[in-house]
Amino acid sequence: MFRTHTAGSLTSAQIGKKVSLAGWVHTRRDHGGLIFIDLRDRWGIVQLVFNPKANPAVHGQAEKLRSEFVVRVEGEVRRRPAGTENPKIPTGEVEVLAEALEILNESPTPPFEISGSDVISEDLRLKYRFLDLRRPDMQESLRFRYELTRIVRDHLHSLDFIEVETPDLTKSTPEGARDFLVPSRLTPGAFYALPQSPQLFKQLLMVSGFDRYFQLARCFRDEDLRADRQPEHTQIDLEMSFVTEEDIMNVVEGMTADIFEKLLQKKIERPFRRIPYEKALARYGSDKPDLRYEMFLEDVTELLKGSEFKIFNEVIEGGGKIKALVFPTPAGSELSRKDFDELTTHLQALGAKGLVWFKVKREDEVESPVAKFFQAGQIAALVKKLAARPGQVIFIVAGPDPGASILLGALRTHLAERYPLIPPGRFEWTWVTEFPLLEWSEEEKRFVALHHPFTSPREADEPLLGEAPEKVKARAYDLVLNGTEIGGGSIRIHKRAVQEKLFRALKISAQEAEEKFGFLLKALSFGAPPHGGIALGVDRLVAILRGKDSIREVIAFPKTQKGTCLLTDAPSGVSPRQLKELHIKPA
Ligand code: AMO
Repeated sequence: MFRTHTAGSLTSAQIGKKVSLAGWVHTRRDHGGLIFIDLRDRWGIVQLVFNPKANPAVHGQAEKLRSEFVVRVEGEVRRRPAGTENPKIPTGEVEVLAEALEILNESPTPPFEISGSDVISEDLRLKYRFLDLRRPDMQESLRFRYELTRIVRDHLHSLDFIEVETPDLTKSTPEGARDFLVPSRLTPGAFYALPQSPQLFKQLLMVSGFDRYFQLARCFRDEDLRADRQPEHTQIDLEMSFVTEEDIMNVVEGMTADIFEKLLQKKIERPFRRIPYEKALARYGSDKPDLRYEMFLEDVTELLKGSEFKIFNEVIEGGGKIKALVFPTPAGSELSRKDFDELTTHLQALGAKGLVWFKVKREDEVESPVAKFFQAGQIAALVKKLAARPGQVIFIVAGPDPGASILLGALRTHLAERYPLIPPGRFEWTWVTEFPLLEWSEEEKRFVALHHPFTSPREADEPLLGEAPEKVKARAYDLVLNGTEIGGGSIRIHKRAVQEKLFRALKISAQEAEEKFGFLLKALSFGAPPHGGIALGVDRLVAILRGKDSIREVIAFPKTQKGTCLLTDAPSGVSPRQLKELHIKPA
């Protein structure tokens, strides 16, 4: 038997017992003869003591131990001498007096300390991910992630869902991002695509009668990467038949409440808030509003009409809007000219023409380089409408809308991240609803689907698909947590004629529709039930619940922002022979 106990499990209950343990040398301290080793395994850390008087041979062996050596130890559990207990760890009351030691493997000095709290460069961590994952924080993140998916599986199982796997080698169909392609050896010149999501397969499963499907699905998207985007991610993907939006929302709310109760011991308020898309843009300048803090956007166009400020007048004449928000200036966050300049530069980099600010002095007096262009009455009315108090700052962005709102929304997020506006430990859920079905793409000069082209229009809007596609609302809903989009879903089109009509609105020809989606259209014509579903991003959800800024922190082997794996060096070249088999000419 390798071990009788795990390092993290020893407590005063084992005092006097002989135990054997196996694990890594976390730290080693030499105290005038006595050697102390913190032994680490997945369950925790326990202190070993090597005493030269009690056992000189074993102590001699222990002198060779270095960080990250792998050892097996036998010894007796005893109470730590009074005053040397460590209340910070669960095993802190006890230690193991070593009687036998076996070095199972050695290790060179690691490139960073597993036991340390130093900030380590992410590149180094990713290159030595197998060591990085030994760090207790990473161990906890992956354990937490596993627990979350287990709760999800149990929860959905209890609601009679069944998990069905769908293919990873599939046909290239659009979901908004670029596909990863896999060349086929057996069909020269043809490619599989890795799925961006199981969208069409889960719809086919509904046609097949598998009402209540779910899957923890791996999804692949060749898109520009960010802190919350990886080329491969995991979704909690689900689909139900004979349902409305309410049914899907109910299942998701119940599931997230279960996760919160079991993993965080927190109750969440239900039902979640719902904010229509247009209101989210107008009020928060974002379709994924962060509700953890206030600072609402207000439309002050009417109020600031007729000033001497040319820029605003031009915007108003051009049909644009003037949007304002109040920065509440938390204690210690008074903004200086330099801060205003930096905030302006930040917003300009996002495309704003400029940023106007008014520092409120009194109800009718503000400090601002442009204050002189406004009548005293206008300033007083502005301060009053926004309920801004002395010391607070009014920020204004003017321009075509919703562009102006989105820019001011970006400022709202930036201010909240930079100044202490977000209460720690707060989680705010919301649904965003009533999305437009389509949006105009300047680049492609055609309408494109805001979600994906299988989303159902509101029934009453269906006739508009032909004449006024921009007016059609979708039966779609996004789930937002703390300003991050966690999930998206919709009620789907289940009638072939409607699906064809939508393809036409998207300027997809009948021939192209047949080539790309013939299988879907055929399936819809064979008695497809009304159905709908959603997918939640596991990586994002876990990262937020663990308080991490990047999803890379909760993925065992993530890619860098450039899509590379620093550990394995993927993507990498392949041999001419492999290329030849795949009918690909070397570049
Ligand atoms: P959507 O594209 O909105 O919907 O994706 C659902 C959720 O998956 C997560 N997500 C990502 N996470 C990490 N890296 C990425 N590159 C990434 N892309 C998406 C997000 C997102 O909200 N088939 C539809 C769902 C449906 O309609 O049922 C879909 O995939 O949290």
